[in-house]
Amino acid sequence: MTDFYDQLTPFYHLVYPDWNASVHRQGEQLSALIKTEWPSSKKILDVSCGIGTQAIGLAMLGYFVSASDLSAKEIERAKQEAHDRNAELSFSICDMRNAYAHHGPGFDVVLSADNSLPHLLTDEDILLALGQMRACLSAGGGCIITVRDYEREERGKNLIKPYGVRVENGHRYLLFQVWDFDGEYYDLTFFFVEENLATQEVKTIAMRSKYYAISTRRLCELMQQAGLQNVRRVDGVFFQPVLVGTRAA
Ligand SMILES: C[S@@+](CC[C@H](N)C(=O)[O-])C[C@H]1O[C@@H](n2cnc3c(N)ncnc32)[C@H](O)[C@@H]1O
Repeated sequence: MTDFYDQLTPFYHLVYPDWNASVHRQGEQLSALIKTEWPSSKKILDVSCGIGTQAIGLAMLGYFVSASDLSAKEIERAKQEAHDRNAELSFSICDMRNAYAHHGPGFDVVLSADNSLPHLLTDEDILLALGQMRACLSAGGGCIITVRDYEREERGKNLIKPYGVRVENGHRYLLFQVWDFDGEYYDLTFFFVEENLATQEVKTIAMRSKYYAISTRRLCELMQQAGLQNVRRVDGVFFQPVLVGTRAA
């Protein structure tokens, strides 16, 4: 899994049609949610920040953000992206299953966005991560999880998920994933077909990972088991379903 994201790091922004715009938009959307649910929040922890899509967006809105991820390469790039935008936030490498030992308590909001939790392949591991996220929260603080809506995804083999075409620095990239389900799990290969528009040379980069297609209903149950209250799914505020829960005051 770490290899997958280390390999993906230089291309990560290409997953979005305009990553920079997504940084701003996702920051605004999460900030609006935070202001509605936990209005006085200032201190945010992102436990799966990747290259910083949400963490940088939130820091640019004035939140004090600590951000970590398992992938050292993503953290290295996130630091550079933050620097390029004059965004001040701290980055470190950490497995979210160890978030409390690493970050300690006192956060107003703890976040794991864009389908990171389903990289943990058992309910036990997801529960462990959620317990760590809860422990990092101050009393009355909020947990935000955003995930794919797996109940709406077709199951099967050889499923193609197109991501589109991007053009950058004289290169054209065709992006797509191929999914192969086995029960509740699926193996994915993320293909980047890169064409040099000047020479027409083509090369293909393929990265492989595995996901647990856990339902949002089961994730909400695990959030409750982890000690979060008022757990529920919120739709229409982010590009994915958002699950929220609050640590008792
Ligand atoms: C789809 S990416 C989302 C990254 C980021 N939130 C974004 O939207 O750009 C999933 C992220 O989860 C991270 N991840 C997976 N398992 C993790 C773990 N056990 N602890 C911390 N991060 C993890 C990966 O390294 C990757 O950066």
